[in-house]
Amino acid sequence: MAILPIRTVPDPVLREKGKRIRTIDNSIIKLAADMLETMHDAPGVGLTACQVGVPIRLVVIGNIADVEDFVLVNPEVVKTKGVRTVTEGCLSIPGYSGTIKRAEQVTVKGKDLEGREIRIKAYDLLAQALEHEIDHSNGILYIDHLENESDLRKVKPGEEEMEDAENVD
Ligand code: NI
Repeated sequence: MAILPIRTVPDPVLREKGKRIRTIDNSIIKLAADMLETMHDAPGVGLTACQVGVPIRLVVIGNIADVEDFVLVNPEVVKTKGVRTVTEGCLSIPGYSGTIKRAEQVTVKGKDLEGREIRIKAYDLLAQALEHEIDHSNGILYIDHLENESDLRKVKPGEEEMEDAENVD
């Protein structure tokens, strides 16, 4: 396993729409393991392959209380419910944190590394992390959801993730 460099804005790979994964081969399994290690090292509650320079639809989630680390291949949001205001940060946008709207509840489907279908109904931080990471897979960053410029604030480097539990990756 290896800790991978995390791409930051304005790296164009962050704006690429990740390609669907057709075959879950050893390179995908190794990349997922490296992404989990990178996420823990950062730390963040999720990471996408796009953030480590590989524009494919691969997401890891972890560091969330009562949720075991997991990997999602080709994840997509199939349903959202409700709206809430959250504070969010991103490892690819160091030194900032923003206030945006996210769904209260999301239903996500995808596959695990064995190719089994997964369907997750999520609330709270897990829902936020899933929306944030699936956005990354579509080349979307949380700053795209800002309604006002004043909703983006500078924070001390390293604090964008640690400031409060609502921050993502
Ligand atoms: Ni992010």
